[in-house]
Amino acid sequence: MTENGSILVTGAAGQLGAVGRTVTGLLLERGLPVRAMVRREDDRAAALRAAGAEVVVGDLLEPADVARVVRGCRRVYFGMSVSAGYLEATVIMAAVARDVGVDALVNMSQMTVSQMSLQHTTPSPQQRQHWLSEQALAWSGLPVVTIRPTVFLEGFFLPLTGPSVRDRSRIELPFGRGKTNPVATADVARVVAAVLADPGPHVGRIYELTGPRSQDMDGVAREYADALHREVTYADIPPEEWEQELHRAGLPEHLTRHLVTMAALNRANRYDRMADSVERVTGRPAMSVREFVSLHAEEFGGRRS
Ligand SMILES: NC(=O)c1ccc[n+]([C@@H]2O[C@H](COP(=O)([O-])OP(=O)(O)OC[C@H]3O[C@@H](n4cnc5c(N)ncnc54)[C@H](OP(=O)(O)O)[C@@H]3O)[C@@H](O)[C@H]2O)c1
Repeated sequence: MTENGSILVTGAAGQLGAVGRTVTGLLLERGLPVRAMVRREDDRAAALRAAGAEVVVGDLLEPADVARVVRGCRRVYFGMSVSAGYLEATVIMAAVARDVGVDALVNMSQMTVSQMSLQHTTPSPQQRQHWLSEQALAWSGLPVVTIRPTVFLEGFFLPLTGPSVRDRSRIELPFGRGKTNPVATADVARVVAAVLADPGPHVGRIYELTGPRSQDMDGVAREYADALHREVTYADIPPEEWEQELHRAGLPEHLTRHLVTMAALNRANRYDRMADSVERVTGRPAMSVREFVSLHAEEFGGRRS
């Protein structure tokens, strides 16, 4: 790997799904050199350094920062938090990667992009930006590998159902009767790490990632109940009520619009998806909701003995 330099992982500090942080750990475990890009020096940066990564600080919206961190790397994982500047950051990364010359650019996207076209977009500004980002990367001619996960267990279900399951043993979401098949970012990161470790066979491919079972929210609640050894039910709350809650929590408008769209797509059964790429790429099946909730039982209010 020395002749190829380090592998650059962006968004490595980790905020919600923390794919970048988990990928960094998995690559270091494989003995590969990792340059971990963070936005600022803090405890998370110190932990990455202590784990053996070369930590670099920079802003993905600053071309000079991106040029500085990519130089010397031949493989890149590009992902950052859901935010208004996503398309701009992607195009900056593409311009830099073309200039530097890379062997693989692994791009984090979303599964909804698989259902989008010129005639069919969605009202989510994040989904629109992922769709356009994928187009721009295709025009770039770069050796891209596209990762399209469905909704994350760590980045959505844990923060948005953890408190109500803890306090009221209820999953409260406006998902209607639609089916969903969430994926663990632990599994998403395993796919990304496997691709970065040996990108050759993957370049040009699109990997859609889901969990092992598509089911409605009553089915999801049953998996929570099995994991926690107590009753957990699903309450299909009014979408307007949920949106007000998101506003009260002070989330940025970009993220709120994205979450509200996700809920509407769920009600329209657009998250009823099944893909086997986690197992195909890593050799191990994706984690179930039950396994995930068991692993995070304390954050969901604990397991009844
Ligand atoms: N959540 C879901 O259900 C879901 C489902 C499918 C796909 N996705 C996609 O997954 C990606 C998010 O991945 P994730 O959950 O692993 O991300 P994350 O943990 O929420 O964030 C990754 C990091 O990006 C950093 N970052 C944000 N803006 C930056 C900037 N301008 N310059 C440098 N770093 C910046 C943040 O730094 P700080 O922490 O220091 O702010 C954060 O640590 C998005 O592309 C999203 O569309 C999410």
